[in-house]
Amino acid sequence: MVNSRTPLIAGNWKMNGLLGDGRARAEDLAKRMQGAANPGFEMLLCPPATLIAGTAAAIEGSGLLLGGQDCHFNSGGAHTGDISAAMLADFGCSHVIVGHSERRADHGEGDDLVRAKATAAIEAGLIAIICAGETEAQRDAGKTNDVVAAQVRGSVPDGADGSQMVIAYEPVWAIGTGRTPTEAEVQDVHAMIRATLAEVTNDATAQSCRILYGGSVKPDNAAGLLALADVDGGLVGGASLAAADFWAIAAAIG
Ligand code: PGA
Repeated sequence: MVNSRTPLIAGNWKMNGLLGDGRARAEDLAKRMQGAANPGFEMLLCPPATLIAGTAAAIEGSGLLLGGQDCHFNSGGAHTGDISAAMLADFGCSHVIVGHSERRADHGEGDDLVRAKATAAIEAGLIAIICAGETEAQRDAGKTNDVVAAQVRGSVPDGADGSQMVIAYEPVWAIGTGRTPTEAEVQDVHAMIRATLAEVTNDATAQSCRILYGGSVKPDNAAGLLALADVDGGLVGGASLAAADFWAIAAAIG
């Protein structure tokens, strides 16, 4: 069966970069994208909030997509330090990451909050990239599927469809560690996520929703991971900070 889900390669820059290096990286990727006649993937940059405006200017007209790393669940008001989904859209963002494990850990974000953020993102016209993943202790205890399914059930907004959201499976123990599950393990979890989506939404949404793998995706493991039947792209942290590596990951899509 031909896979109709266009692969998405998303770079999560996290809390890295100042104006100069962020702009240089974005310009480098914009040139590569413009030089690619028919890339066969979508490429998304998610810089820290301070670099969104500069990145937007650097990638204008290139076909690269822009996203935020988080948003508030309210559309505006007295929320010091926070950014609304509408503000991200105003900057030209098309996507926003919600529920990344670093926000779940650093800021105590749970599924209800993640779902509220995803709902706010969709209301603002953004595509919500909803993250889920197990810790190493949960994996060792054989609870991976239970934990990830519960996060998906708890974090996906009612009525969301495959054009409004993306799921990112990111095992917490694989993030920034250089370790990954085996390809078979990744495919099993992704298939389980798709089956869970079919239960909480419907078959059409489950079939059209892209499910990204994240956690130590590098140029040398990308081809195998991205070729898996239910892997529709990658959410890349460390390797997205070097334009050549990030581009090599996208180019690994066969
Ligand atoms: P990593 O991060 O690629 O550095 O492991 C992935 C992520 O946290 O999104």
